[in-house]
Amino acid sequence: TKQKLWGGRFTGETDPLMTKYNESIGYDQRMHYADVRGSQAYARALCQKNILNEHERDEIIRGLDLVEKEWAAGSFQLDPADEDIHTANERRLGEIIGKHIAGKLHTGRSRNDQVATDMRIWLREECEKIMEYLKDFLMATIARAEQEMDVLMPGYTHLQRAQPIRWSHWLMSYAHSFMADLERLSQLITRFNKLPLGAGALAGNPFDVDRDFLAEQLGFNGIAGNSLYAVSDRDFIAEFLFWASMTMVHISRWSEDLIIYSTAEFGFIQLADAYSTGSSLMPQKKNPDSLELLRGKSGRVFGQMSGFMMTYKGIPSTYNKDLQEDKEPLFDAVNTISDSLRIATGVLSTLKIRQEKMRASLTMDMLATDLADYLVRKGVPFRETHHISGEAVRLAEEQNLSGIDQISLEEYKKLHAAFEEDVKNVFDFESSVEKRTAKGGTSRKCVLEQIESIKKSLEEV
Ligand code: ARG
Repeated sequence: TKQKLWGGRFTGETDPLMTKYNESIGYDQRMHYADVRGSQAYARALCQKNILNEHERDEIIRGLDLVEKEWAAGSFQLDPADEDIHTANERRLGEIIGKHIAGKLHTGRSRNDQVATDMRIWLREECEKIMEYLKDFLMATIARAEQEMDVLMPGYTHLQRAQPIRWSHWLMSYAHSFMADLERLSQLITRFNKLPLGAGALAGNPFDVDRDFLAEQLGFNGIAGNSLYAVSDRDFIAEFLFWASMTMVHISRWSEDLIIYSTAEFGFIQLADAYSTGSSLMPQKKNPDSLELLRGKSGRVFGQMSGFMMTYKGIPSTYNKDLQEDKEPLFDAVNTISDSLRIATGVLSTLKIRQEKMRASLTMDMLATDLADYLVRKGVPFRETHHISGEAVRLAEEQNLSGIDQISLEEYKKLHAAFEEDVKNVFDFESSVEKRTAKGGTSRKCVLEQIESIKKSLEEV
């Protein structure tokens, strides 16, 4: 059997199931690039302190470039003794440049500061990709909101018809949530982008490696300022998992709205074939599976967050092997959120809206608030006008009228003397919507302002 990286003091064999149980190479190999870069920077730092001479440093950097080339080409051959990405890369480096030089790389370093560094580098780059996906989604939202500004639909509370709104206003409501997600993600990267490398196993580096130099080499904006903290801390993973959960909540609620809007009963939207599936039994079916999966996968990301929090909470100070359990939840959440954002963008940019159905679902009772507001503008206190407007709704029902617009002026005057000929202007959905002119409202001007402000934030983030 092969010699393990840490095998010197051992005489007994590891139980084969234990070997399997212990290794993380199956999933942490996706950090190969981060691991190679971290080691190359570390070789430079060791050379500054004369632990490596320049030839040895250059050999290590060259060898690691070759290791990375193998990973990139898919030709890296795993060895059964490779426990994780760190041991695999070091083993392969030794095969390429010789063990004598390769064996110097790990001086003063531990897998504890190494893995914490690799994960931050890896996550930082994934977060940057995710930010792009989120921006694409926001841009698709804005594009629709601009194009379909004229379209009116019912707005709901309690899933009951409430007041008319612009479809664009609905779209932009989610843009606000997703914009906040984008800002939070960008802040999160800044917060966690601190370098653990140079902390050693726990106590610090005895060769005085220049950690500021390492941070700069590896694109960190500072160093983790305590060696115990540097190898212990996985708050950034917890924070990312919360971030992903929150974002998935927005995706899930957005999906739920669209699932409802896509039913025959609503009929407001129709999903593109590209994002729907059929039924194996019922030939007529077209199901919104994309949206259902978006909604469903939010539960999965939540699970990764709470699972990791359970693992994290009881771990004593510094590195414990429990921390290896940070990877699968993180990787799974990154996969899920990345795919989900791209699917959501695809769904949104290809769905068709059915304006006539949205328009036909607007009913006169949705203007009852406007009727009350009409009297308010004539000086009647709102608490009274609310009641009067309610009476009008009841009257229309009792008289089997199609709506409050069918009540005669005479009858209205009986409800209140302030009603005049111009009450008929209330019964117009467009004018109802256009009255919501205070910032953030559903009038055209306000929705355009929202679009401008989100566009501006997109440039700034
Ligand atoms: N594969 C390990 C992990 O992901 C690397 C660190 C191992 N360190 C140690 N002292 N056993 O956490």
